[in-house]
Amino acid sequence: MRILVTGAAGFIGSTTAELLVAKGHDVVALDNLASGRAENVPVGATFIEGDCGDEQLVTSLGTFEACVHFAARIEPGESMKYPEVFFANNVASSFRLLNALVHTGVERFVFSSSCAVYGDQVEMPIGEDRSTAPHSPYGQSKLMVEQGLQWLVELGRLRAASLRYFNAAGGTLAHPENHNPEIHLIPIALDAAVGRRSHLEIFGNDYPTPDGTCVRDYIHVSDLAEAHALAITALADHAGLTLNLGTGIGSSNKQIVETVKKVTGRDFEVRYVARRAGDPAAAVASNGRAREILRWQPLESDLENIVTDAWAAYQSI
Ligand SMILES: NC(=O)c1ccc[n+]([C@@H]2O[C@H](COP(=O)([O-])OP(=O)(O)OC[C@H]3O[C@@H](n4cnc5c(N)ncnc54)[C@H](O)[C@@H]3O)[C@@H](O)[C@H]2O)c1
Repeated sequence: MRILVTGAAGFIGSTTAELLVAKGHDVVALDNLASGRAENVPVGATFIEGDCGDEQLVTSLGTFEACVHFAARIEPGESMKYPEVFFANNVASSFRLLNALVHTGVERFVFSSSCAVYGDQVEMPIGEDRSTAPHSPYGQSKLMVEQGLQWLVELGRLRAASLRYFNAAGGTLAHPENHNPEIHLIPIALDAAVGRRSHLEIFGNDYPTPDGTCVRDYIHVSDLAEAHALAITALADHAGLTLNLGTGIGSSNKQIVETVKKVTGRDFEVRYVARRAGDPAAAVASNGRAREILRWQPLESDLENIVTDAWAAYQSI
């Protein structure tokens, strides 16, 4: 299949593009390098440096049977300061991309959505039918694209899957998690373990969770990549899909700290500071629908395996 992968110079996009190349697809990798790195684009993919919202550019790339759309700004905190940037980059650019792709005849579209569409939910795990209530312009931007896609599907313009990832983590030697700026707990804890940061800050230890720290559902990037390949296939039988991608198992921030200390064999200072606005106490996926429809299993996402792979990848940077 000829597949366009946007955001293929980023963490999840590069890992997925590599898998799609390995599965024999003809992959065109489009990234404006706003936060990605050209060296992340896997060997075997054709790299085009450019913006996914550049309709002329996208049209000039020809016809694709499928597109996997990762390109986005990903920091919820920044979106609270500059919402207009997130709506322009994540929403407007997505629809310009879709406009170009639909006109050149794309058949299947897989969209990187997020558990951020759910906002603060009390009852765990969270199923796809739970009402959405994003807490940030970032989460709202993902929901807006999902909603537009639902119309395109309903009106027969294309087939689309919105994949709501929980916390992407882990890494491979070729594609470590290395965001700039880094906002995710495991790589930040690894920075503390090697002394690149003086200490690790945990936001809040008075949440209504077993140990008082926030609980999240960590999913290995390799499992996410596999789910995208399966979603492209599943769209042959389903015009529209909305699926959670998580393990169904919650890990607290304290558990992450303990696992990072155990895996690296290094101790570091942890400071518990005030809660951060907008952080839900817990976010854990119900993943039954993805397991059933995609025949997907998160095989790499045991927490110790995630941290072990993240540590190996971190040391390769
Ligand atoms: N990392 C997570 O835990 C997580 C969780 C839920 C959803 N997601 C979603 O997954 C996707 C990938 O996340 P990631 O962690 O790999 O982020 P990342 O920052 O590593 O990758 C995003 C890539 O998109 C590129 N990009 C951004 N805007 C672009 C544009 N307009 N045109 C072309 N390229 C553009 C960046 O240069 C970067 O290479 C994002 O859509 C994100 O919202 C990530």
